[in-house]
Parts: sequence; C-alpha cells; structure tokens
Amino acid sequence: MKIPITKPLFDNSEKENILKPLESGWLVQGPFVAEFEKLFAEFIGIKFAKATTSCTTALHLALEALGIGKGDKVVVPSFTYIASANAVEYSQAEVIFCDIDIKTFNIDVSQLAQILRKDKKKKIKAVMPVNLFGLCANLPVIRSLAKKHNLKVIEDSACGLGAYIGTKHSGTFGDAACFSFHPRKAITTGEGGMVVTDNKKIAQRVSSLRDHGASKSDLERHKERGGSLLPEFNQKGYNYRMTDLQAAVGVAQIKKAAMIIQGRREIAQKYEQALKDVGQLITPCVPRDYIHGYQSYVCLFSDKAALSGLKMNKIKELNIRRNEFMARLEERGISVRQGTHAVHTLGYYKKKYRLQDKDYLNSYVADRLSVTLPLYAQMPYEEFEYIINTINGSLK
Ligand SMILES: Cc1ncc(COP(=O)(O)O)c(C=O)c1O
Repeated sequence: MKIPITKPLFDNSEKENILKPLESGWLVQGPFVAEFEKLFAEFIGIKFAKATTSCTTALHLALEALGIGKGDKVVVPSFTYIASANAVEYSQAEVIFCDIDIKTFNIDVSQLAQILRKDKKKKIKAVMPVNLFGLCANLPVIRSLAKKHNLKVIEDSACGLGAYIGTKHSGTFGDAACFSFHPRKAITTGEGGMVVTDNKKIAQRVSSLRDHGASKSDLERHKERGGSLLPEFNQKGYNYRMTDLQAAVGVAQIKKAAMIIQGRREIAQKYEQALKDVGQLITPCVPRDYIHGYQSYVCLFSDKAALSGLKMNKIKELNIRRNEFMARLEERGISVRQGTHAVHTLGYYKKKYRLQDKDYLNSYVADRLSVTLPLYAQMPYEEFEYIINTINGSLK
C-alpha cells in the first residue's frame, strides 16, 4: 500500500471552474479572485479577505500594511515553518523567538509575557502567533498582552482553516491574519494565500501593496470608462497577485471546505481512539473550548511521563528512535513527516541571531520528536486500519 501524507479533495467543480478563465481569456486577478475572497471572508466570519500568491507573501503584506519595518521587532514562535520568520525578515524587522507550550505546539504565553516585560525600549511592535497544525494559539491571552503593550497581532493561520475558539474562527482575533492554500492545507489552489482583517484601511493597503502599490486594480480599471490610463503608484509595492486560474480552484474548494474539515476531524477522532493506549505516542491536545481543524495530525514520540524535564541526552536518544520508527513506516509505504522545524536551529537564524539549540528547548523537543501521520478527508478505512496495524507492529 502507498499512503501519502495528505491528498487534496477535488471533484468536477474544480475542473469546470478552471475552464472558465481559459474560455474568457481573463487569467490574472479578476472575477474569480473577487468571488473567492468574498466566500472566504464569509466562511471565517470577517469583513475583508485579500488573496495573494502564498501565505508567506500574505504575511509580508500584512506586516507592511500594519507599518512594521526597519528598527522594529516581531515575536515569532520558534517552532513553526520558516516562512513565519522569513516574512518578518522581508519586512526588515528583527525576529524575536519565543518558545512553545509542548502540549499544544503553540506559542508559550507566559514566556511571551516575560519577553514583553523585558522590552524596556519598546522595540517590539508586533506578535505573530501561529495557529499550528490547525489548533488556535492562546489568542485571547495574546490579545490582552498586545493591548497592554500596544502591539499589533498578525495571526499566522497558514494551517488554521477550521480552527476555532468557541464559535470564533482563527484569523479573527488579531489586527490581520494570513492563510495558506498550499496542497498540504485543507483546501488548496496549488500555491496561494489570503490576508484577512476587519479593518478597511489595512485591507485597502494590502490590495494596493500586492499590486505594485497601484491605486486601483486591473479589474476596477477595466470596469470603468477611461480604463486605458494606468493608475497612480504612490508607494513601493509587489506583484503578489493570485491568478484567476488559481482562484477558480479556490472557489470550488471553499464551497466544500466544511465537508473536507469534517472528514478530517472524523479521521483524527479515529486516530485518537486507536492510539490512546499506545504509550510511545502522545496524540494532539485539544484544550477546552478549542476546535481543532487538523491541518496535520502531529504526535510526539515519547511517553507523557518522560516529556517533562527532558535533557539533551534523552532527547537525542528518543530522536534516534523516532527516526527509526518513521523509517519503518516509510518502508511499509506510509508517508510520515516531522511536524515542522525549530526555526532557531536552522542555519540562517542560528547564525544571524547567535542561537543555540537549547535556547528554546520545547521547540527543539518538538522538532526532534514530532511525527505527522497521514490525514485526508477521503481516507478509506482499509488505509486507516493498515496505518494503525503498522504502527502497533513497529512499536512492539
Ligand atoms: C505555519 C506556516 N506559516 C506559513 C507557511 C507558508 O505558507 P505558503 O507555503 O502558502 O507560503 C506555512 C506553510 O506550510 C506554515 O505551515
């Protein structure tokens, strides 16, 4: 059997939609992008959504639109995909890492409070909580810390579709938030991203910045008389526009997002049941009032008792065993991955900010001990059963 880590869910609607821009000849950001933005904003319950080429570029635009730049500092969790930190570097601000809570894989709010208390010169201008693997960070506490310290909050919700606290969807807690439509995410446009916000001015800035700093979009220009004249360009911008071909897929995908997310949750619940007595795998934690979107199903290769107070030697020993475990699953055709990486251990950041692996120990543990299991809404029972049997067999 060959089981991928995830699989997008398509039907005829993507194929039908993608033909329409080909037939009309309007391929760049146009009517499909506008429709995708409207449907996406409705889905998560926010006023404005602006599509981009990726979540990375969305994060860059959100930072710039919020006025973050040279001389500023932005707090980013040290266990996240490198793109979160890279977007801060694009904006020319400085990254300040913060460790994670090992139970949730999300930013540790007590360490965040400490970092903010120590920032006597008030250089920290923003915090970028990451809603990792489909679980919201502790956004209510982050929001109140931000209010106290006068900071902007940019949620990196690349993985956050279908993640809620109570009835509030991820992406609606901060000043702005960014989503990804890479194929590893619940819905996909191939590559693609979205900035969302309730603030009209931020939305307008993002609109202009993604389009070279133009005062109006091509679609607006073509719709009005006098479209032959180019718009004004009063600020430096980028070409971060999503194409209508991608948005045509996005429109079909967002219409079935609820069904896809529900399917993923059902597989996650089956994992939970099947793995609860497997001592060497700690399954994902879902705090009370939180609803997980399960962009990924990420476990820790450790027993619960051993997890608190892990020392470097023990982490290294468990890491070797984790890697052997993953290799055994791969040999049997089951794709597995480490959850994501500890960014402070990666060459560029390690060197630039003079960091050591042990500086953010929980992130290091998560990097070395996490295991992502395959998850997709349409996973057949035989595949699921094969995965569980193989896990049980390889842990004996
Ligand atoms: C937490 C996080 N942030 C940002 C990104 C970047 O998203 P994209 O690939 O759409 O640029 C990813 C992608 O995996 C991610 O996991």
